[in-house]
Amino acid sequence: MKPDTETNLPVKDPSDALVPEEHLAEHHPEAKNADYAEGIDVTQVHGAILREKSDPHDGQEPIPVWIIAICLGVVLWGGYYLGKNTANFRPDIFDTHAAAIGGPAAPGAPGAAGDTKAEGAAADSPEKQLAALMKEGKSAYGSICASCHQAGGGGQPGTYPPLAGSEWVTGDSHVLIPIVLHGVHGPMTVAGAQYNNNMQAWGPTIKDKKMAAILTYIRQSWGNNASPVTPEEVGKIREAFKDRKTQWTEAELLQLKANPPK
Ligand code: HEC
Repeated sequence: MKPDTETNLPVKDPSDALVPEEHLAEHHPEAKNADYAEGIDVTQVHGAILREKSDPHDGQEPIPVWIIAICLGVVLWGGYYLGKNTANFRPDIFDTHAAAIGGPAAPGAPGAAGDTKAEGAAADSPEKQLAALMKEGKSAYGSICASCHQAGGGGQPGTYPPLAGSEWVTGDSHVLIPIVLHGVHGPMTVAGAQYNNNMQAWGPTIKDKKMAAILTYIRQSWGNNASPVTPEEVGKIREAFKDRKTQWTEAELLQLKANPPK
């Protein structure tokens, strides 16, 4: 097709036609009015279009199967690797605070070098574990309990009972733990003074380990001198009273004191 000299647009050359005009004139006289007549062979006229595929576009290529296979393989391998190497997301491995208490011993500590994690934990001296509990307990007490019971454990006369010198705090841990797990309400005598107030349950918001740390801290501070509380003990009491939804009363607590949960 030669371009028109003036418009530079292609000019149709009759010899370019798919079906030469002479052929049409001779064999298909009706094609002169092709718009109206049906006689022309449509398939033949469109033959060129049918033969050629449309031009490919960008961005429509399907993802090759081998890439899908590699991705699937990586995902499967990742799942296998996590499953095999995460130790069930044990808190003493994944919680850096937990590591301070029950985790591997610090480098240089007896049993640290080359030992397995479990052996390292066993090698942590009881004093070190206690110091870690006290440290965590002090900070948690300061942020959760001190607003009422005060940083010095003295409470607020008439409103918030003291923890320093409280027989509830230094007495049986199987009574103290439920008090803090489920809360307490109604009249109670603390360190010789009467209170009649109400404390919420802390069990839902404080996990066993932090709870043990707080209780150990209040049992061993401000002149109190009672045994530490372990996370296992808190867990056991939590389990024993897992269906309890209400706060304790003093009468119930005295009963509990006489009948420790199994
Ligand atoms: C919003 C104020 C408030 C906060 C916060 C609070 N308590 Fe109490 N607590 C009370 C009140 C009030 C009582 C007394 C309830 C009653 O009179 O029946 C009480 C009682 C107690 C008792 C038994 C009585 C005693 O003084 O020995 C203990 C133990 C105790 N709380 C520990 C804690 C611990 C541990 C925390 C932090 C986890 C805490 N409380 C946070 C208000 C609070």
